[in-house]
Amino acid sequence: MKGVILAGGLATRLRPLTWVTNKHLLPIFNKPMIYYPLEAMKKAGIEEVLLTTSPHHSGDFANLLGSGEEFGLKLLYGIQKNPAGGIAEAILLAREFAKNEKILIILGDNIFNYDLKSVADKFSKKAKGAVVFGIEKDTQSKQYGVIEIKDGKVVSIEEKPENPKSTIAQTGIYMYDERAFDFIKDLKPSNRGQLEVTDLNNFYVSEGTMECEMLDWWIDAGTSHDELLAANVMVAEKVKAGEL
Ligand code: G1P
Repeated sequence: MKGVILAGGLATRLRPLTWVTNKHLLPIFNKPMIYYPLEAMKKAGIEEVLLTTSPHHSGDFANLLGSGEEFGLKLLYGIQKNPAGGIAEAILLAREFAKNEKILIILGDNIFNYDLKSVADKFSKKAKGAVVFGIEKDTQSKQYGVIEIKDGKVVSIEEKPENPKSTIAQTGIYMYDERAFDFIKDLKPSNRGQLEVTDLNNFYVSEGTMECEMLDWWIDAGTSHDELLAANVMVAEKVKAGEL
């Protein structure tokens, strides 16, 4: 399985911190944010990772991360010309890189400590399907995709719904089979003008091949100044307690 980390976007919600700096390079306690998804890839047993970012910031990532050797990974870079194109559009950039292998996608601002290896190993042996990672959250906040599960099966995923059907938020960690790229080709931009990862996920939901795994803690550090601060405080506590 190949890894893809999405580190593009405009990060308008974090300005003025992000006028010059890409948000994924901002600090989370003692490391740049982007270290967390990279370390998660390595732990998951992934060997090759494509990091997609905007043309403007690709040099900064190359300066910091180089070939990926320090992380024990082979790191390649992809350029997303349109930073507001959405998660699914950014995933499409990985088509050639994936070369018909399954992919693990992690959004570059997702901080968590779940070991993805056993799920990745299980998924890589499957003929087809996808995996989404969920977390118990207040889904009334309209910040997240919301996953509905019935009898252990994912029956719907709705993007930032008015009336959430569950308290399970969709995180930014996904596994897909090689058909994901064809599904993305059929997507239409949403109301916010993006190719939505939720619409991609719904191809698998309607096929009955989407699985959901739950995380015990996770934070999307890139959504607001408060979340960035909360991620810093949480990680600092966990590092000092020897849990990270
Ligand atoms: C995206 C997804 C959403 C998911 C969230 C996780 O939202 O569209 O379903 O819950 O990431 O961070 P965005 O950050 O693009 O608003």
